[in-house]
Amino acid sequence: KFEGLANTPPMGWNSWNTFETHIDEKLVKETADIMVASGMKDAGYSYIVLDDGWMTRERDKNGDLVPDPVKFPSGMKALVDYVHSKGLKFGLYNCAGTKTCAGYPGSRGYEYQDARFYASLNIDFLKYDWCNTEGINAKEAYTTMSNALKTAGKPIVFSLCEWGDNQPWNWGKPIGNLWRISGDISPCFDCEDNHGTWSSWGFMKIIDMRKDIRKFSGPDHWNDFDMMEVGNGMTLAEDKSHFAMWAMMASPLIAGNDFRKMSKETLSILTNKELIAVNQDKLGIQGFKYADENGLETWVKPLSDGNWTITFLNRSNVAKKVNFDWNKNTIKDADFGHELNPSKEVYKLKDLWKNKEVGTTKKAFISDIAPHDVITLKIYK
Ligand code: GLA
Repeated sequence: KFEGLANTPPMGWNSWNTFETHIDEKLVKETADIMVASGMKDAGYSYIVLDDGWMTRERDKNGDLVPDPVKFPSGMKALVDYVHSKGLKFGLYNCAGTKTCAGYPGSRGYEYQDARFYASLNIDFLKYDWCNTEGINAKEAYTTMSNALKTAGKPIVFSLCEWGDNQPWNWGKPIGNLWRISGDISPCFDCEDNHGTWSSWGFMKIIDMRKDIRKFSGPDHWNDFDMMEVGNGMTLAEDKSHFAMWAMMASPLIAGNDFRKMSKETLSILTNKELIAVNQDKLGIQGFKYADENGLETWVKPLSDGNWTITFLNRSNVAKKVNFDWNKNTIKDADFGHELNPSKEVYKLKDLWKNKEVGTTKKAFISDIAPHDVITLKIYK
């Protein structure tokens, strides 16, 4: 892979969660324009990624992929150039199998040819999916595409989308910069959506599934908890919890909503600078669950400079009270060897949603917390 392209979790936008295959150049341009004008670019978002559906159903007579001329009448290269002219980066999608999940041509057997095509378009990011891969070894298939990109020469972030069945966290580090760890996300808190042969998952379900593989994630080799559903129909509390957890887990922050219809609340969640700083912290450590009292969950994440973040999340359907006595809690991160011991040293506290200092660790932290809501504090000296 190209090393060092994702030393902090990639931030951007992907078309799939809202638009599926209904994408075109107008949508991309408008999304890029809003990413800049809304302050999202300044907050750190940079990748605009077109997911499945950007191609025609067949390759051309030379075997090359063909961007759909109806959806992209000006051509894909012109669109990439447009996005670059805004100071943003561009990504595309394909699949390790014979066809993509939506039935467009996959890269199986065409890896080097497709990599040259992406390099000629000057793209910056490739999401590489796992449909129609019967009989293929995942590590080998992803290695082939990784080598093909490297050979084509244009530095491209390589985003593995294998869903976790083949445990990419065990072998993905030299191959890709990030890897999906689960099936697809759904815009819900704790649900499982059954689609017959497969399920999609509420964001807390994905967190539950993969909270124990944190030691495999880090700078340039991220566990990817999937594209976000912030702004896609959940309550404000749930959207806040979703964003806080993606920050806590050092997951890539790839928005999946329609920017053209984005509410002020959604924008302010997605551009919360303090939460983004937690996600982008250079230590790059995925957080972990510290406590769970009848659905009042406490998550922690060590940060650089000896700071920490703590997130109280009300998983239940009733209001709860947080009462956290710092002096009775020494928090140990066994995987990465960090320890927070407020009984030895006093730390300051900042509420990252209210953007307000809220005292120190000398006094217990007490606060009400609504169902599905979240409180995130930074603990610092
Ligand atoms: C899979 C992936 C999704 C999306 C679709 C596209 O389900 O996991 O993120 O890319 O394919 O068809």
